[in-house]
Amino acid sequence: MQPITELSIIVPTYNEAENIPKLIELLSDTLSSINWEIVIVDDNSPDKTSDIARKIARQDARVRCIQRIRRRGLSSAVIEGFLASASPYLCVMDADLQHDEKLIPDMLASLKQTNDLVVASRYIENASTGTLAEHRVKISQTATRLGNMILDHKLSDPISGFFMLKRELFEKVNHKLSGKGFKILLDIIASADDKINIGELPYHMKSREHGESKLSVFVVWEFFSLLVNKLLGKYVPLKFMLFVAVGFTGVFVHMATLYVTNQLMQWQFIYAQSLSVFVAMTSNYFLNNAFTFNDSKHTGIFVFKGLISFYITCSLGTLINVSVATTANSQGMSWWLAGIAGAAVGAVWNFALSIAYTWRTEK
Ligand code: GDD
Ligand code: MN
Repeated sequence: MQPITELSIIVPTYNEAENIPKLIELLSDTLSSINWEIVIVDDNSPDKTSDIARKIARQDARVRCIQRIRRRGLSSAVIEGFLASASPYLCVMDADLQHDEKLIPDMLASLKQTNDLVVASRYIENASTGTLAEHRVKISQTATRLGNMILDHKLSDPISGFFMLKRELFEKVNHKLSGKGFKILLDIIASADDKINIGELPYHMKSREHGESKLSVFVVWEFFSLLVNKLLGKYVPLKFMLFVAVGFTGVFVHMATLYVTNQLMQWQFIYAQSLSVFVAMTSNYFLNNAFTFNDSKHTGIFVFKGLISFYITCSLGTLINVSVATTANSQGMSWWLAGIAGAAVGAVWNFALSIAYTWRTEK
């Protein structure tokens, strides 16, 4: 039996209202010989992309829209789109018309012949990044090199946002995907244990028609996190490494504050030391909120609540730290080993509480 829809095109969107009608029109023109559907996964865009999508969906059964509220993220949007579709073939593309829809029939043919996954590449013969700004090309090339570090199967464009795969492949990896950041393709390939056949097809990237790119410092950061997690995550969770790194910055913040208040401003030691503890905890909180727990970041009024909760966590952590170290020392452990033991137990405690309480994600 022929499936009713053979190909689901998943399009994550954030503020793409102006691009959606044109995209659907282009797909209709190009894909006349394919049974396709488009699933727009919109994160409640302020420009009302979802409304525009639903308006078209009312006239056209091939168009569907998933509107997510209080959620953000390209990768997780794509995963949800995959999960909400039933087609044997799944395609991902940007809404901004940068990806050449004319390549879709060839991509599908390639999956039907041999490949499990086919990537539209900007970095092979007969392909180009078009008018993409030079600094964006540089970032993209660096990301390509880094991305290939975690892949057994090297690709010319492992961070491409335009690709197609067999549903079976997605189902094999779906429980392993991190769903963070932009790099869904890299994540899928790195998560596939068995050997998979990957094809690459060239295309010339077009310029964005409307709106602007959402690639930000945080997207780059999340990309870096994904790499470290895939490279080292088996041994030590990246979050814990970050948490400890932030802890070390806290030591410097503490010493700097102490120096200024006690040495330069001549405050009494006890006041200088107390203030330093607060300044260090506060700076640790904001760094952890921005980097370590970036995926469950506090914003607005929740920053205040989070900060208080972090103070409480750290105070208890300090108590535990001191009691462990003192006990160990009194039982004959050398001063520095006892000091490290106390600090280590304190750090694990703070980390555990931060995950379970301060930055817990609603399940
Ligand atoms: N649902 C949802 N949520 N969609 C999002 C989000 C989000 O938080 N952020 C971005 N998008 C959508 C955009 O609306 C667009 O349709 C698509 O995801 C890609 O975002 P762009 O902002 O257009 O990304 P880009 O063009 O700068 O980056 C492209 O090239 C990169 C490689 O250089 C994308 O194709 C990336 O996937 C690709 O890695
Ligand atoms: Mn784009």
